[in-house]
Amino acid sequence: MASGSDLMDRLVSLCKRRGFIFQSSEIYGGTGSVWDYGPLGVELQRNVKDAWWRSMVHERDDIEGVDAAILMHPRVWEASGHVAGFTDPLVECRNCHRRFRADAPELNDSGQCPVCGTPNALSEPRLFNLMFKTFMGPVEEDAAVVYLRPETAQGSYVNFQNVLTSTRQRIPFGIAQVGKAFRNEITPGNFIFRTREFEQMEMQYFVEPGTDDEWFEYWKARRMEWIQSLGVRPEKLRFHQHGPDELAHYAKTAFDIQYEFPFGWHEFEGIHNRTDFDLRRHQEYSGKKLEYVDPVDRDKRYIPYVVETAVGVGRTVLALLADAYREEEVEGETRVVMSLHPRVAPIKTAVFPLVKKDGMPEVARRIHEALRAAGIPSFFDDSGSIGRRYRRQDEAGTPWCITVDGQSTEDDTVTIRDRDTLRQERVNAGRVVEWVREKLTTA
Ligand code: GAP
Repeated sequence: MASGSDLMDRLVSLCKRRGFIFQSSEIYGGTGSVWDYGPLGVELQRNVKDAWWRSMVHERDDIEGVDAAILMHPRVWEASGHVAGFTDPLVECRNCHRRFRADAPELNDSGQCPVCGTPNALSEPRLFNLMFKTFMGPVEEDAAVVYLRPETAQGSYVNFQNVLTSTRQRIPFGIAQVGKAFRNEITPGNFIFRTREFEQMEMQYFVEPGTDDEWFEYWKARRMEWIQSLGVRPEKLRFHQHGPDELAHYAKTAFDIQYEFPFGWHEFEGIHNRTDFDLRRHQEYSGKKLEYVDPVDRDKRYIPYVVETAVGVGRTVLALLADAYREEEVEGETRVVMSLHPRVAPIKTAVFPLVKKDGMPEVARRIHEALRAAGIPSFFDDSGSIGRRYRRQDEAGTPWCITVDGQSTEDDTVTIRDRDTLRQERVNAGRVVEWVREKLTTA
């Protein structure tokens, strides 16, 4: 089994071959660190977002969803501290004008440029803001500058009072959001790990000050459970606490959930105690009261503390793909299989007639259509040898392949092959939908 950069190369190549992920604008040579999701990738991504939304919003009474706009009032980013503080220190080569993060491992004390090799060429570090800027309206002037949001969280904070009054929630309660964010990252890379355009799934949980440490522990545990419920192996997951020099400008405490990617242990989710930093600053900058008044004791008023859970869709997809990738010897041949959990697998079933005659295609088509009508994403394939059809579905991560063979037309049964165990079970054709449904609910 491959590991490290070899494993990443194989994963990237499988993602392209099977239609999970393509490089953006590939026919023009690609765009730096932007990726497109193909037919299988978009289904996997949707399943991840649906699983998150279900566990955060639909299965709870205390969390509401919002979908705020990407473009916000520019004062939002002054209040949030992003205009002043969302920066990386960069050095620039005076000869080739390339820029590097001041803490990049390829730099040394001599000031030599690691790309063009010019000695003493690097400037003093200067702060570079990671927010993308654009202009609102027809005139490109300073007064028209707006930013592409670098996090979805601010859209939840500025709607705190709107959600509170329209839903009559009481503290503690949360606001959940899934949406795009943009960062002009200096060192993007590792496929979809760090990109300039990405999607976040963030939840802001508003609590009474003094109860924040307890809620922080609660959310750490829930988020670790969630990623394991999608099938990621527990031994590949761990917590990492941020030291004082890692903490974001808004955080009192922060823990990452890290996954052991083929390129090492890295964050894929952050849990942050943001205190009352954001609401207090928005109250100050907007002049609008963002206090919570206790409905029982109306003399009790406070700006809530926030415990945030923040995870990238792409990072979750990458962790799932890396965790699912297996190479195995089967009957003297290497098979590549994506052991994705059935909840997130893009296609749940593939239906094959063994041969294109003797009524087998008709029976197979009927089963395929019954599965689709039941809302189970299914794929029909009648071309190539049965072995090749299985291999294609193994790489796509399809948990069950249903084959209609000679016996099917005699006794109305089909075989269902399990992707991981390779065991085959004979099931009555009329029971296939029920069989798959049961497996999906118990998986
Ligand atoms: N609202 C808090 C916040 O944005 P963050 O740790 O900067 O915190 C949260 O980001 C999550 O968003 C990260 O754990 C990661 O999963 C994802 N993320 C952040 N920057 C990313 C990037 N450039 N590319 C892909 N995902 C990113």
